[in-house]
This record gives sequence, C-alpha cells and structure tokens, in this order.
Amino acid sequence: MAYGDYHREIVIILDFGSQYTQLIARRVRELGVYCEILPCNADVEKIRAARPIGIILSGGPRSVTEVDAPVCGEAVFRLGAPLLGICYGIQLIAKMHGGEVQRSEKREYGRAHIYRDGPSPLLDGMEDGDTIWMSHGDAIMRMPPGFTALAHSENSPYAAIGNEAGTVFGVQFHPEVHHTPKGKVILKNFLYTICKAQGLFSAASFIEMTTQKIREEVGDRKVVCALSGGVDSSVVATLVHRAIGDRLTCVFVNNGVLRKNEGQEVLDLFKDRLHLNLRYVDGSERFLAALKGVRDPERKRKIIGRLFIKVFEEEARAAGDVQYLAQGTLYPDVIESVSFKGPSATIKSHHNVGGLPKRMRLKLIEPLRELFKDEVRVVGRELGLPAYVVQRQPFPGPGLAIRMIGDVTRERVAMLQEADAIIREEIEWKETFGHIWQSFAILIPIKTVGVMGDERTYANAIALRVVESEDGMTADWAKIPYEVLDLVSRRIINEVPGVNRVVLDISSKPPSTIEWE
Ligand code: XMP
Repeated sequence: MAYGDYHREIVIILDFGSQYTQLIARRVRELGVYCEILPCNADVEKIRAARPIGIILSGGPRSVTEVDAPVCGEAVFRLGAPLLGICYGIQLIAKMHGGEVQRSEKREYGRAHIYRDGPSPLLDGMEDGDTIWMSHGDAIMRMPPGFTALAHSENSPYAAIGNEAGTVFGVQFHPEVHHTPKGKVILKNFLYTICKAQGLFSAASFIEMTTQKIREEVGDRKVVCALSGGVDSSVVATLVHRAIGDRLTCVFVNNGVLRKNEGQEVLDLFKDRLHLNLRYVDGSERFLAALKGVRDPERKRKIIGRLFIKVFEEEARAAGDVQYLAQGTLYPDVIESVSFKGPSATIKSHHNVGGLPKRMRLKLIEPLRELFKDEVRVVGRELGLPAYVVQRQPFPGPGLAIRMIGDVTRERVAMLQEADAIIREEIEWKETFGHIWQSFAILIPIKTVGVMGDERTYANAIALRVVESEDGMTADWAKIPYEVLDLVSRRIINEVPGVNRVVLDISSKPPSTIEWE
C-alpha cells in the first residue's frame, strides 16, 4: 500500500514553555497527524512555509499579564489555519484579540468538571460533568469581541471559548493529560472536524517515507551504523537496511561489559534472522585490558568511550568506502525550543558515538529525528523487531563497568552478568509492575558473612536497583511486590556463585542517580 507524505498534513505546536508541550505533540501524532514543535516566537514565515493545517498554542509557566510575557507573532492568527490555545494559549488568544485577562487570587489546580454552554464541534462528545484537569493562575475577565463561551467549569466561566467564524478556539484545561479522560476526543475534534485532517501519519507511512528518503539521499553510496542492541540503534539499522540493503554495514562491538548473552542475541537476530551485513567484533580482551586497575567511574567511561570509537573506526574502514554514518538521534534532542534544552542534553552527552561523525568526516543520516521514543518502539514493532528488542530498557554505553564498584575483571563481570540475567527474567521483561524504566544489579565491593549448609561463607553482595521514570531525568524506586523481590533474591543467592547477600536500593533521583557510578 502506498501512503501519502504525512508532512503535507502538519500541525505546528508553538511552545510557551509548558512541561506538557511534548505530550500535546505525542497525542496529536497518536491521533494520526504529524506535528512539530516550534518556539513560541518562531518566525511566522517559517510557520507559513510549513503550510500547517492547524496551530496549537501550548500552556506555559508564565502569566500573560506580565510585561515581558512570551507572545507569538500576530500574523500567526492570519495564516488561515485553525488555532487551538491550551491554558496559557487560551489566555494569550483572549488578550491578543482584545479581551481582558487578570491574575487570579488563587491558582486553580487539579480536577474540575466541564459544563457546555452551547454547541461547538470542538466539544462534540463531551458531556456535562466530564472531568477536566486545570492548572492555571490567570483568568479571562472579559471575552474578546467575537468570541463566546463554549463551556464553563465550577471555577472558570470560560473553560472553553471559540470565535464566531469557528476558526479560533481555546481551552483553559489540559486535554493532553490523562487526568482529562476525554481530552483526546477534544484534540480529535480539533484535528479532524476543524482542521479537516485525513490522518496520514502512522508507523507504516513513516517507514515508507523514511526509507524512500534514505534511498534518495544515499544513492549508491555506503552507510555504516553502530549497532548496540538497544532500541534506537536496532530500529535505525533495520530501517536503513530496508532502504539500501547490503550497502549498510553494521558494527557491533562487544566491549566485554555487556549483559549476559547480549552479543549472541544481536548476532542471532540481525545476522541470522534479518540478514544484515553485520561486523561483530569481540573487543572484550582489549577493553578489559584497558580497564585493568581503573576504579574511577569517569575514567571507566572515558576509556570505554574512546576505545569504542577506535574499534568502530577500524571496522568502518574495513567496510570499504563509506560516506554516511546512521545514528539514532530522537526528536526531543532536536526540538529547537529553549525550554527543552538543559538536563536532557546532558544525558545525551553520555552517548558513545557522539564524536564519530566529525572525526570520520562522515555525513550523518538520522532517520529517527522526527520521532519520540515511544514512536520508535511502534516503528520497531512495525518493522518486525521482536518484543524483547523494542521493549528493551536503556543500557548505558559503559555497560556493566559502571555497575560494579571498583575493579572491572572478567570474574566480576561474569558474576554481575548472572545476577543481572535473573533480574531480566523476573522483572525486566514483565510488564506487570507499572512503568519500570530500568531494573538491574550492582556489584558492591564488600564481602559479608553468610552461611550455606553448614559452611560459613564470606562472599559478595549484590544491590538491586529498580526505578520508575518517564525520561531518566528524575526517578522513583519502584515498589516491586515482596514476592518478586523474594524470588529474585533467592535465585541470585542460590544460582550465582560468589554472592551470599542481596540488598535493595530505595533511593530516588534526585538526589541519588539511577546508576551507582
Ligand atoms: P543517571 O545515573 O545519571 O542515569 O541517573 C540516567 C540515565 O542515563 C543512563 N546513563 C548512561 N547512558 N552512557 C549512556 O549511554 C553513560 O555513561 C550513562 N550513564 C548513565 C542511565 O542508565 C539512566 O537511564
């Protein structure tokens, strides 16, 4: 089946700094419409050039009553595309159309209920009393001329507004959060009834468009890609392979600090099943030799990062005359908006392949630049990758080296791999424990006394780290059921020689970090 170019049907989200802006984008895309986020003060000509079918103004932490409150260009309202303002967005619409907004005495925050004041396609399907999620400090005091109230809540006479022409709308609440259970209905109405979207964006249309683009760009040249076994690089490799076949060479470097059987799993899947042109390098001797005696976490990271680049370069050179490097950059890294720079950028600086393109003078292909992480997983599924790959937890480039405090030796790696494999079996691949971001073992450099049979033991302790998180920036320790903890602890102590104690890490981030090193 041939899909249309989903870029033809784009919604622009202007970001006023809300923590929910990316969530709005994800909801719009889940509804089958491609969208991009631009900073609120984006050049209006740039917005016009994208020919959006609709524009959404996000919420934001500021008050429109402040002198230097962020605004969008007035011309945004004259582009002819229907507009929806959310929270800060509705107040800005009111203010810029001649209404009056005031700071209210108390901030309205939390659950409220909506009551409709008249028919409007925006609210079709919403019923009186439906729950909505409010979070705002400003309130519209006087409606702008030409606008009417479409709905009110207990505390907000203008919970939803619209202009007479039926082209500009605002909602005081957040339809994008799941605390507004029917929020998706409102977004769907906006996209499909008001903006007349057809719904061109899907994993299948993304794959078709992207492979076509890769083919056009690469022509008959060659691409190299570092395969780590993680979700992003697996999807990149599979996608590029689908586009150009054997002109893609993948390099997988076993750095000696991978999880148990990880190298073999990558080989089985990508070489034997998917028939990718894969160069597998067993660098474990080299890496472990370079790590000998190194205990400082940052030095471990640097040594592994640098050696990885060296080995990768050697392999890429052996692949022949390569012009491109395919890399798994995701959308959150490319959003131009200032409000999204900051801590997330720091996490990515861990990335091992970061220095590669410059050093190797390769052009970059970043086929996932438009996608959020959960969309990458959907695309991976659509490409036929197995669940254990698309559901895989993040795994740091420096691997188990930063999960064993102290020396990195073959024996300690083997011990940690065994403990980690048990956690993988009992926790990682089960989806029953809520939103688990990572679950893993840490080898602590202490020995404690135990008793096994009639024998006194003096052996190692393993710490268990299980965290819930949205993005790795903050995290809570996961409240895993006692029976599961019990099972994991028993299995580790019984099955992993050299371990006689298991402890649980119950710290959250901040102030702790997820990894111990
Ligand atoms: P922290 O320990 O900083 O970890 O709370 C946040 C997230 O980043 C991952 N992480 C790394 N990823 N190279 C990586 O590729 C690294 O050096 C690295 N250090 C931490 C960590 O697993 C968690 O998901």
